[in-house]
Amino acid sequence: MYLDSYGLKSTPFNITSDPNFFYEGSSHKEGLGALLYGIKERKGIILITGEVGTGKTTLCKTLLNKLPPNVKTSLILNPYFSEVQLLQAIVEDFGLEAKGKNRLAIIKELNKFLVNISLAGSNAVLIIDEAQNLSSRQLEQVRLLSNLETSQDKLLQIVLSGQPELTQKLDKFELRQLRQRIFVKYNLVPLKENEVKEYVEFRLRRAGAVQIDVLPESYKIIYEFSKGVPRLINMLCDRALLLGFVKEKNIFDGEIFESCVEDLR
Ligand SMILES: Nc1ncnc2c1ncn2[C@@H]1O[C@H](COP(=O)(O)OP(=O)(O)O)[C@@H](O)[C@H]1O
Ligand SMILES: [Mg+2]
Repeated sequence: MYLDSYGLKSTPFNITSDPNFFYEGSSHKEGLGALLYGIKERKGIILITGEVGTGKTTLCKTLLNKLPPNVKTSLILNPYFSEVQLLQAIVEDFGLEAKGKNRLAIIKELNKFLVNISLAGSNAVLIIDEAQNLSSRQLEQVRLLSNLETSQDKLLQIVLSGQPELTQKLDKFELRQLRQRIFVKYNLVPLKENEVKEYVEFRLRRAGAVQIDVLPESYKIIYEFSKGVPRLINMLCDRALLLGFVKEKNIFDGEIFESCVEDLR
């Protein structure tokens, strides 16, 4: 709605997790580093945790873009399935056929696929987002997949990404075997106060903004409201753009942001 009047090519503060808008804040950079390291070194299971809206899904999608092209990937964004359905979804995202096959047949097929990838000198990664929603049995299934290996190497690197409750879930006694397979862990934290400005400016630039001037006083308000959580920053800034548009403003001062904060409370 306000796109044209600000010379924007797309909405700068969309709440979808678009890797094209990935800003490498310090925590996101470390998280990405941990992921790439764990995968390259074939560490088996990698755990990424973080509060709602900190950027886990964005990180997972960005990871797909950063992996070497010969690495095969499967990304499960919403694992609300039964155990067999989860397996099916995983192999189908690798590009394999799973329809009508039982658990054993699927695992056999996946194993063959992974061995071939390994023989070709490449690697395979399974990413499960919202992993706090997995049941203990599903998590146990994931552990079994991480067992697939040759004498030298893990065939499948697994990334579990989820809210902090995931850690508590993994603390259960019955999941101790899975817990022992996790060699790389990273907890994603919100942006630091000085990163908020960079983040906002980066997203505006990415969307092509030229006629938008956010005054320094505004960033204090954005930080106080969001505590650096990107999703909350996006919500507030999107609203501010809309209000600015309605008021025909190009300069975004504290007053505009304050009034949006009021609305969002
Ligand atoms: N590093 C980042 N760079 C750019 N945008 C981000 C970043 N982290 C999060 N976001 C934005 O914040 C919002 C929430 O991110 P998301 O990945 O969905 O969080 P989570 O999965 O942890 O709940 C999305 O709109 C996303 O685009
Ligand atoms: Mg998410």
